[in-house]
Amino acid sequence: MCGIVGYVGDKKAAPILYDGLKKLEYRGYDSSGIAVNDGFKIDIVKKKGKLDQLEGSLKKNTNGGTVGIGHTRWATHGKPSDLNSHPHCDCSKDFVVVHNGIIENFQKIKKRLKESGHNFKSETDTEVIAHLIEDNYDNNLLKALKATVNELDGSYSLTILSKYEPDKIFVVRKDSPLIIGVGEKENYIASDIPAFLSKTKDFYILEDNELAVVSSGKIEIYNDSLDLIKKELYHVDWDPEMAEKQGYEHYMLKEINEQPDAVRRLMSKRVTPGGINLDELNLDSEFLKNLKQIHIVACGTAYHSGLIGKYLMEELLNIHIEVDVASEYRYRNVLIKEDDLVIVVSQSGETSDTLASLRMAKKHGAKILAFTNSRGSSIAREADHVLLLKAGLEISVASTKAYLNMVVAFYIFSLYLAEKQNKIETKRLNKLSNDLIRLPDLLEQVIKDSESLMKERAKQYVKKQNAFFIGRHTDYTLALEGALKLKEISYIHAEAYPAGELKHGTLALIEKGVPVVALGTRKFIFEKTLSNITEIKARGGDVTAIVYKGAEGIEKVVDHVIYIPQIDDLFGGVLAAIPLQLLAYNTAYLKGCDIDQPRNLAKSVTVE
Ligand code: G6P
Repeated sequence: MCGIVGYVGDKKAAPILYDGLKKLEYRGYDSSGIAVNDGFKIDIVKKKGKLDQLEGSLKKNTNGGTVGIGHTRWATHGKPSDLNSHPHCDCSKDFVVVHNGIIENFQKIKKRLKESGHNFKSETDTEVIAHLIEDNYDNNLLKALKATVNELDGSYSLTILSKYEPDKIFVVRKDSPLIIGVGEKENYIASDIPAFLSKTKDFYILEDNELAVVSSGKIEIYNDSLDLIKKELYHVDWDPEMAEKQGYEHYMLKEINEQPDAVRRLMSKRVTPGGINLDELNLDSEFLKNLKQIHIVACGTAYHSGLIGKYLMEELLNIHIEVDVASEYRYRNVLIKEDDLVIVVSQSGETSDTLASLRMAKKHGAKILAFTNSRGSSIAREADHVLLLKAGLEISVASTKAYLNMVVAFYIFSLYLAEKQNKIETKRLNKLSNDLIRLPDLLEQVIKDSESLMKERAKQYVKKQNAFFIGRHTDYTLALEGALKLKEISYIHAEAYPAGELKHGTLALIEKGVPVVALGTRKFIFEKTLSNITEIKARGGDVTAIVYKGAEGIEKVVDHVIYIPQIDDLFGGVLAAIPLQLLAYNTAYLKGCDIDQPRNLAKSVTVE
């Protein structure tokens, strides 16, 4: 949420900062700005709207300085506008700040600063930081920054330019990510690694309350007490190509098509014909054997993967599984015991509510296992055990390949645990492992099979204002994800219901032509779903069914059918995710929506 970049080196800063922001635009895109310091003055350019709005004025209005900072915003305090865009500065433009996070006590500080004569220009919480630094500055910016953050409640990663030390950038973080990229005679600052992946693969990852002073030839990192500390460099092996569209019109379509390979990577060495090996997690065998309660906590799409996880683990393990949205879990009075396992699921590994839930559960003494796509993220670092999703860089705000890998990770983990708890026969485990190995090829087939039908279906959906998704058991969790995908990128109101629940109210909304996607991938409960589909058809609903091959009687009942290839009943849901993603994509495409950067959303949500 909000992207921060910084550059200090021997080249013109503005174009480098702009390129870095382009790579971070998925973090927020309602306004942006850049400040460049040439040693004499700091030029600030900022604009409401997407980043390209900034490009023109950038050339005209910034100096050729080689030190600068930039920001792409997802508005929290104050509407998107030129004035509210970052960077923000103090009264005399001596200190220039970009910020990611929320300052909860900013009103109180602002009032005090105004009374003492400070002049504010924006409605943002961030601006108080620049004025506070101005107040605290006494010839030592590091100390002034420390004194400033001591007064702040909330979350922040801050990057600061100053007139007094023009060849340096000052940074600090708390509950909001910040990394420093190491180059040759140049260094980079960013809120996320992809910003400068084409420049360096070596990064320092700042921890909470650490500060740093970055110049072209030196990076000094300090702890909370302002002692200089040594940190390990973190090397990433990501290919900068991953951050490109590679011929696809949108990242989302590219990422949908990357799913077979993403699943292959996730399963490599972990799933073999002989079974599942997750010993890399270093989870104690006795602990796993005796495990009686698992909590799954996540947000958004990741939460939907957790719901599938619940159904699966109940089915395979017959133990108690709680699943919760992180923003609720963290404030509920949940009974968490020391011998519980808490699985937090997060693509970015930085989602604020998920991180807070992790910390809360840790305080109760529970073991934390993170499913995350981001190795160096806060969640990966703070969890006791990490299952890396290996989906590769995901850029589209709407998650597809990371979601699918989360779902497959739940399958793998459930089977691993089932074996540890002696709840699965070797023959069945081997059969399921073999089916898992077939999954990527089948995913490729489903992508091919559903592409044209979903393009056709989208022509109808684009005319609608409402749509419904139904299913039972794991299919219900898929329905939730299908509805979310359609909502978030095509702005069509979509609701998901357990198929059996529709008649308790929502059936009143079904009339001629109302679009309904019905999922029926689970044989054991298909007949029940079929009855619910019949109830919809009787009221004129337009039903598209996504069902297992051989689903009896479906063609006579519904308007359109997609069959998913034959595979063990347990895995049907993985394959059915694809047509749902393609339906949302094609509908949003026909509506002309901004698919990769849907309105009001951001990929990495680092505020509450
Ligand atoms: C945002 C994104 C969603 C994502 C959710 C959780 O809302 O737009 O696509 O599912 O955050 O993100 P996480 O990184 O924790 O999986």
